[in-house]
Amino acid sequence: MKTKILMVCLGNICRSPLAEGILASKLSPEHFTVDSAGTGDYHIGKNPDHRSIAIAKEKGLDISHQQARQFTAQDFIDYDYIYAMDGSNYQNIIALAPDANSKEKVKMILNELFEGENVDVPDPYFGLENGFPIVYNMLDEVCETIAENLKKNHL
Ligand code: 4NP
Repeated sequence: MKTKILMVCLGNICRSPLAEGILASKLSPEHFTVDSAGTGDYHIGKNPDHRSIAIAKEKGLDISHQQARQFTAQDFIDYDYIYAMDGSNYQNIIALAPDANSKEKVKMILNELFEGENVDVPDPYFGLENGFPIVYNMLDEVCETIAENLKKNHL
């Protein structure tokens, strides 16, 4: 059975589409499924923000086909690991969790690098253009760690 990982931010147009594309590029699709969603409903059906598409393209990843969707309680059933980009996303996801097992699936993504520190991936949407390369680099580093750990567990 495939291991399923879901990346979650607010709009599902800036951070989690990058996280999805980056992690998927580090894992075999034969064994892993990576998807993303937003806790908000503002951008449902839209492709990623042009700045996320551009930085991904610069790094050799095509995320332009992705379409934003909203996180739902069904995702606790469908996914094994749910990574929140920031503390607000984390709280919004946890608020929908029906039981303790569901809550345990949810992690702050940067805790995979900085255990227990609850560091946010900053929201680049309203910020300067260079927020996107910074976010990309953070996500690339943490996804490398996540991919290594997932591959170890899969063996
Ligand atoms: P994301 O960024 O959560 O990384 O996709 C945002 C995108 C849109 C909005 C907020 C954050 N918004 O308020 O529309």
